[in-house]
Amino acid sequence: MKIVMATNNQNKLREAREIFGSLGIEILSQKEAGVSVNPEENGTTFAENALIKARAVYELVHLPVIADDSGLCVDALNGAPGVYSARYAPENLLCETLLENMKDIPAEQRTARFMTVVAFINKNGEEITLEGSCEGVIGFEKRGSHGFGYDPVFMYGDKSFAELEPEQKNAVSHRGAAFRNLYDYFRLHDTQEEN
Ligand code: IMP
Repeated sequence: MKIVMATNNQNKLREAREIFGSLGIEILSQKEAGVSVNPEENGTTFAENALIKARAVYELVHLPVIADDSGLCVDALNGAPGVYSARYAPENLLCETLLENMKDIPAEQRTARFMTVVAFINKNGEEITLEGSCEGVIGFEKRGSHGFGYDPVFMYGDKSFAELEPEQKNAVSHRGAAFRNLYDYFRLHDTQEEN
């Protein structure tokens, strides 16, 4: 089966290829599928935004499509930045802005989780969404140089996500968990039928 991934993010493509390759599923980039879309992500939930991205590609290719939407939910900020994670601050100031907004919050109240919803549309247009999450705490300073976004301030045990190697992060991350849930869904349902 071939699945088009509704993203322009090379890291997400690589992660999806690593996970789904062993099922004999080929992940095509939008470019490889001959489409170029960048819809406005104006949903109020991760699921809505994942579906917005998946539908925009499905309408053009009528092939199976996956898309994911992710964000960081901080308990002390009532779940913010959540679905607005990408727009919380300019990309290079996301961590600084979060640290500043949490400067008076003590260590034991800095719990947070990364969330992902992955949407899958099969070739008949039937839709499902599946979740993945990863629990951690927000540190008091940036640590590490890998990854992107909020990785330097998201502490998973005694290391930040930015201190983990990519494969270590994939093994425990929200996106990895959501992709593995979809992997299990494909194994339980005959992927040939989906195609
Ligand atoms: P997207 O819309 O799923 O690409 O993600 C929205 C925003 O959430 C990104 O711009 C990042 O700021 C943040 N984010 C999502 N996943 C991660 C991650 O694995 N590490 C750090 N930040 C992330």
